[in-house]
Amino acid sequence: MPFMTSEITLNGKTIVISGASRGIGEAIARAAATVGANVVLAARKQEGLDTVAASIGEQGGSALAVACHMGHPDEVTNLFAKAKDTYGAVHGLVNNAATNPYFGPILGIEEPAFDKTVEVNLKGPLLASRAFVEQATSGASIVNIASISGMRAAPLQGVYGMTKAALISMTQTMAHELGPIGVRVNAISPGLVETRFASTLIENEDLLKHMVDRSPVGRHGQPDDIAGAAVYLLSDAATFMTGQTMVVDGGFISG
Ligand SMILES: NC(=O)c1ccc[n+]([C@@H]2O[C@H](COP(=O)([O-])OP(=O)(O)OC[C@H]3O[C@@H](n4cnc5c(N)ncnc54)[C@H](OP(=O)(O)O)[C@@H]3O)[C@@H](O)[C@H]2O)c1
Repeated sequence: MPFMTSEITLNGKTIVISGASRGIGEAIARAAATVGANVVLAARKQEGLDTVAASIGEQGGSALAVACHMGHPDEVTNLFAKAKDTYGAVHGLVNNAATNPYFGPILGIEEPAFDKTVEVNLKGPLLASRAFVEQATSGASIVNIASISGMRAAPLQGVYGMTKAALISMTQTMAHELGPIGVRVNAISPGLVETRFASTLIENEDLLKHMVDRSPVGRHGQPDDIAGAAVYLLSDAATFMTGQTMVVDGGFISG
């Protein structure tokens, strides 16, 4: 019988979301909990996670907050062990945490900033995906939060853009390698979204105007604009979709 329900649900699924203490990760966690998922929230600082988890709980959802630096293997192992202890199997993973410590010409980046960007934006998703797959069953879904900066030149954010391009490559390779065990892997490339991460861009009036003027929807994004795509990709409505990158940018790069 073809799959169709009146609404997309994550009932009975447990989803691990990195970078879930604010911004896009928080919006995805709230949306997933709203449609029935148990959510496991990860970020480095426990306090921010606890606030989001408590708020999800007050709204009738179930959330577990686990402090975790996504680039540190032992902490990632601990994250999935805690998720499993609390909820049993984990069905979805959103690799959302990322960093961009350097803003400037690509050749000017110093080695510590380069290493940190690669550690959080690439090693993190790889480690988390490995820990996830070790316990995943058929029907599981990984969603990688990439960026339109990984699909075009990314002036002044070059190494960040490189990591997002590599994350899209990782998405395609993992989709092929994990397809046979029933794990789907997709990416979302957001455009400019108003978060702490993007504050330098949002607060630059000229740059914001340039972006908004080129956007068919005539505005920049909010974290909730990205959440629906993530919920869809995590859900059984997307069982025929893998290895893809959904661009959610208000049409910015389509012009
Ligand atoms: N905002 C945009 O315009 C935009 C556009 C395209 C793509 N994106 C992507 O969207 C994702 C989320 O970004 P955002 O804008 O929502 O950023 P944000 O509001 O600054 O949130 C970043 C989250 O990541 C966590 N984090 C940072 N480093 C971490 C680490 N090493 N280990 C674990 N957690 C870590 C932060 O918490 P702690 O500080 O407590 O660790 C926080 O929860 C990123 O992948 C970003 O590249 C954003």
